[in-house]
Amino acid sequence: MKLPKNVTIKEVAPRDGLQNEKRLVLSDDKISWINTLSETGLSYIEVSSFVNPKWIPQLADASDVLKGIKRNKGVTYAALVPNIKGLDRALEAGVDEVSVFMSASEGHNRSNINKSIKETYPVLEEVVKEAKMAGKTVRGYISTVIACPYDGYVAPFHVREVAERLFSMGIDELSLGETIGVGVPNQVENLLDELLPHFNASQLAMHFHDTRGTALANIVKSLEMGITTFDSALGGLGGCPYAKGASGNVATEDLLYMLHEMGIETGVDLKSTLKSAQLIERTLGRSLKSRQMEILRAEGKERIS
Ligand code: HMG
Ligand code: MG
Repeated sequence: MKLPKNVTIKEVAPRDGLQNEKRLVLSDDKISWINTLSETGLSYIEVSSFVNPKWIPQLADASDVLKGIKRNKGVTYAALVPNIKGLDRALEAGVDEVSVFMSASEGHNRSNINKSIKETYPVLEEVVKEAKMAGKTVRGYISTVIACPYDGYVAPFHVREVAERLFSMGIDELSLGETIGVGVPNQVENLLDELLPHFNASQLAMHFHDTRGTALANIVKSLEMGITTFDSALGGLGGCPYAKGASGNVATEDLLYMLHEMGIETGVDLKSTLKSAQLIERTLGRSLKSRQMEILRAEGKERIS
């Protein structure tokens, strides 16, 4: 198996993880937790999102959180931005990188951002342009790259069409969201076969939700095909409130375990990651369901030091 020597992990739990949590987490608790994440060796943390707070009340405090965290120079602090109003808020709060997002399927795009795919392009185009003028790098997300909770399976060429539009706007990196976690490795292969002739593997990231336990298998397939950036969420937190039944992202600690055992370096320390996961576990008041966290519980190490 041909494998890369290094992989970049982009931690999305403070955004993708918390956006699906019903119980409001206090801003101070988010800040203390993100500060521990900043000390794990991660180089990228998606801190929050500047969406309409009526849609995602849990992240209504995005500005306070971004302004309240202790910045580590080696970390890029990013946030989701859906429109110019969100961009203005994100820039005012001092975001490092802006993430725009849309779906490859009409059903999810409409449900998630209240627009058709065609109506979304000019909105994102303006955000990318303004963000670039403000000197920020921009990440694009495409959701439902394999299947949509409303429209069913999504043909890879639909993903390519959206990807082409986003890259032509000037995004620096594209994250491919397997939003509902139904995908399996041969579907990932079909998707990347469609994309890799057109886009550089180093500009693509994979974002797998692990609803059916296939995320790690999909990551191994992606690694084999040359992808070296993966999104994950501590404790397997996460899900999209506008994709029923979608559970959390692949757990960062399970991904770290696998990559490190495969001899792939990430620069992220597993033990400090687990400590950080235990902190948010105590804040949320429920057990996180990653394999690594289950092992700690089985060993009676509910609070590692
Ligand atoms: P809308 O309600 O259609 O917007 O929302 P609107 O433009 O008609 O505005 C309605 C009101 O919202 C107005 O206020 C605006 O000012 C306000 P009013 O005049 O009624 O008082 N508003 C805002 N306020 C603050 N910040 C803003 C903002 N925008 C409008 N940015 C919109 C359109 C896109 C904003 C909305 O649909 C929205 O916020 N959607 C976000 C949904 C979301 O966050 N989903 C989860 C993230 S995506 C995801 O999880 C997938 C991913 O993980 C990858 C994967 O797994 O596939 C990335
Ligand atoms: Mg997601």
